[in-house]
Amino acid sequence: MKSVGLIGWRGMVGSVLMQRMVEERDFDVIRPVFFSTSQHGQPAPEFGGQSAGTLQDAYSLEALRALDIIITCQGGDYTTEIYPKLRASGWQGYWIDAASTLRMNDDALIILDPVNHHVIQQGLDQGIKTFAGGNCTVSLMLMSLGGLFANNLVEWASVATYQAASGGGARHMRELLTQMGMLHNHVAKELQNPASAILDIERKVTEMGRSGVLPTDNFGVPLAGSLIPWIDKQLENGQSREEWKGQAETNKILQPAATIPVDGLCVRVGALRCHSQAFTLKLKKDLPLKDVEQLLASHNDWVQVVPNDRELTMRELTPAAVTGTLKTPVGRLRKLNMGPEYLSAFTVGDQLLWGAAEPLRRMLRLLVG
Ligand code: HSE
Repeated sequence: MKSVGLIGWRGMVGSVLMQRMVEERDFDVIRPVFFSTSQHGQPAPEFGGQSAGTLQDAYSLEALRALDIIITCQGGDYTTEIYPKLRASGWQGYWIDAASTLRMNDDALIILDPVNHHVIQQGLDQGIKTFAGGNCTVSLMLMSLGGLFANNLVEWASVATYQAASGGGARHMRELLTQMGMLHNHVAKELQNPASAILDIERKVTEMGRSGVLPTDNFGVPLAGSLIPWIDKQLENGQSREEWKGQAETNKILQPAATIPVDGLCVRVGALRCHSQAFTLKLKKDLPLKDVEQLLASHNDWVQVVPNDRELTMRELTPAAVTGTLKTPVGRLRKLNMGPEYLSAFTVGDQLLWGAAEPLRRMLRLLVG
């Protein structure tokens, strides 16, 4: 059995990864070695009924060099510090990483096997040993819209995202919920009185949002009752880094003959862990809507086409309906007024599952069977 080092298993993405690995019995087919950046020597956790001795030091090159495969959810700083040293020491194992650090490296591939299994297989055949999970919005887009991309039907895609707090991290989720609670507490009495004036309540909430009392250490500004139309760093061309990833990563994942333009606006909203995205797609031809639906639905086991019906959309195409599941539904499919090649689509997906943890454990399975 292959020795698999697990790093960053305690964090949010790591915890979801452990849960999925237990559910899919991945621990039955590996010899897990658990690492810690701060608590090595303490007992390792037990997942899938396997005891794994003590926690190893995540900064020990010697311990890392003994592994066949490393999966890390420890974050970009860890990868930046350790990965080059480990490779420089001659380590030839497989590195599977949730962070964005290595994604665009020439000797690394972005993994999303239901979408780019052929690219991954080709990479493995060529001796590629470094694999990175994709940006969550990109992976979720491709899981939902893969049928159109796989059939080379997308001329370009324009997107507006509705990204959940979890994309920022665990502390961001806490901050959002704390903000929500504080705003509610501030007007709870008035809300109980049906005769109270809603604009007075709204004014109190708005004033509190602007007053500086809400915790904003993580988001920088209040998110509850608001939204933030900027995610990640500012680039010189006016894009956010999150927006830049859309085209860069989509094309790296798919490796099409010609670059597919993808661009749009990335927006943080008050959802917890599901990213939603509204697309305008320019298709390469006027494909009947029925054919579009059929291609989308048959692309992979997780995508679901939600008919463009009010009731079904409200019930099935929301973060509330999708959170905690591997479903990647797509709906609101219709031809737009701009012409018969212009299609709208709305997608929803759990950014901790297909957006982060799931592609990592599936890459592990490709390596260990
Ligand atoms: N950058 C994403 C977000 C996280 O902030 O929502 C997942 O790649």
